[in-house]
Amino acid sequence: MPTFASRDPSAPEFWSERFEQEFTPWDRGDVPAAFRQFVAQSPRPYATLIPGCGTGYEVACLSEAGWDVTAIDFSAAAVEAARKMLGRWADRVVQADFFAFAPCHPVELIYERAFFCALPHRMRQAVVNRWAELLPPGGLLAGFFFFDDTPKGPPFGIAPAELDSLLAPFFERIADEAVADSLPVFAGKERWQVWRRRER
Ligand SMILES: C[S@@+](CC[C@H](N)C(=O)[O-])C[C@H]1O[C@@H](n2cnc3c(N)ncnc32)[C@H](O)[C@@H]1O
Repeated sequence: MPTFASRDPSAPEFWSERFEQEFTPWDRGDVPAAFRQFVAQSPRPYATLIPGCGTGYEVACLSEAGWDVTAIDFSAAAVEAARKMLGRWADRVVQADFFAFAPCHPVELIYERAFFCALPHRMRQAVVNRWAELLPPGGLLAGFFFFDDTPKGPPFGIAPAELDSLLAPFFERIADEAVADSLPVFAGKERWQVWRRRER
């Protein structure tokens, strides 16, 4: 087991240390089936933002399908790992803090995987507020949400009722499915959900 100096998952150093030491139990090495299916069944490509992208496998999946995608991560080591893995799509990854990042054109879809649950409980409302600011009415928040009731993390699980009460003022849930191909760290505790931004 490696040892780490940073204990604060809201700091980029926390994540950089883990990427540098190749301790990334959340990293699946590919694109989850539910997301691949979502892309294949979408009526059209969406301008997509991936906050906290890590290695960013989804960037290649979306780019190859002709979608406009920007992936951000505030950890230099994560961005380096993503750019190395992505090759021709490397320039779609930007080193930026989600809370400060201003996209240069409107976002239609935000993809969530292991970003919301990477952050401590006290930051949840701020993440939801920023999702809601970034998406126009009708815009989609789609991805994987981790449900658990242990206070330790990351990953920090959330209760279904808490997620609903955070998101419901801004979003309407339009899909909610079990996930069959979870990594061990998320197995039996994550669901694929799609939320649509309400009118402001
Ligand atoms: C558990 S990893 C998940 C990575 C990726 N989404 C995946 O599914 O493999 C969480 C990522 O979120 C990034 N992150 C955390 N807070 C961030 C912030 N405020 N802005 C941008 N990235 C952030 C971390 O650097 C880390 O790469």
